[in-house]
Amino acid sequence: VTFQFGPYLADNVLGHGANGVAMRAQHESTGQVVTIKVPAMGDGIVLARLGQTVPPGLLRIYNGGLAPEHQWIYIWVAREFADECLADVLAERQLASDEAQTIFRTCCETVAWLHAQQIYQWSSHPGNVYRVGHTWKLGDMGRCVAFVDPDHPAVAEFELDMRMQTVGGLPDELLGAYVGSNPSRTGFWPYDPVWEARLRMDDCSMLGGLLCSMLTGKRWEWFFRALNKRPYCSARYSFTGDRDVDERLSAVVNRAWRGDAGGALLVANAGRGEQTSYEDALELLQDVTKALDSVSEGGADSCVRGRTTSGS
Ligand SMILES: Nc1ncnc2c1ncn2[C@@H]1O[C@H](COP(=O)(O)OP(=O)(O)OP(=O)(O)O)[C@@H](O)[C@H]1O
Ligand SMILES: [Mg+2]
Repeated sequence: VTFQFGPYLADNVLGHGANGVAMRAQHESTGQVVTIKVPAMGDGIVLARLGQTVPPGLLRIYNGGLAPEHQWIYIWVAREFADECLADVLAERQLASDEAQTIFRTCCETVAWLHAQQIYQWSSHPGNVYRVGHTWKLGDMGRCVAFVDPDHPAVAEFELDMRMQTVGGLPDELLGAYVGSNPSRTGFWPYDPVWEARLRMDDCSMLGGLLCSMLTGKRWEWFFRALNKRPYCSARYSFTGDRDVDERLSAVVNRAWRGDAGGALLVANAGRGEQTSYEDALELLQDVTKALDSVSEGGADSCVRGRTTSGS
């Protein structure tokens, strides 16, 4: 089956996620290959907020189709087509330490940039990190939320749509992808400083998890360990095999994880243990870089388990 989205023709399903369908498509006159995403709530928010100009660390969003009679709600977007997904790389091999650091840097810097635009909740996992040529980029903004002034018309439009799911204009075969998605997490939200702090903490916590995935291929096993120790997030994790690095990095990741669910674990510790979390992705990046660079004497080669050739 071929679907038409504006000027794009899609005939190849790339994957179904928790949030809809991604398809490979081509522009009917220029031949440009893109990824069409349906539904496109979160990516549509980023498109509406930023237009087509995004920083190099973000997968580009070229175009989108608005729902009929809507000004802010997109039913599809055309994303830059990626060469490779980080999840596929991790399924095949381990990353070298400097390779992991390079990708993590992009993730933290881009999340910090998004925070400066008051955009939050990029889904921070290797399935949403893509390589285009030599550049790693964040993609899939499906769950994103952005703050606007409380009286901004987008707030009302999203509120209404969330209640009614009245969006039309999708082919019947794809309507299920829209109606079955979880719209309540995404949208333009009225600015609230308390929510902002929680979202920032939560995003930093998720970046901590992404770092685990990149260094060890595991994530939830380590997080589970963090929850099985009292106070929460005080365990030591084996990230690299270097005792000193692991010690330092565990402290950093624990600090990030205490911000999970907007600081829930910090609250649950009720004053026991360290009282810190991260709200600033650049501060997290700086601490991770310091920890990874603090390789103990003679330990350079043990920095990452099964270290392969380095990616410069
Ligand atoms: N820009 C892209 N280039 C190449 N492949 C892509 C691209 N975007 C998505 N895909 C593929 O399609 C699959 C599903 O798409 P996507 O990640 O956008 O949505 P999702 O997985 O439903 O969202 P979520 O991550 O919230 O569950 C991905 O796992 C990926 O393999
Ligand atoms: Mg995804």
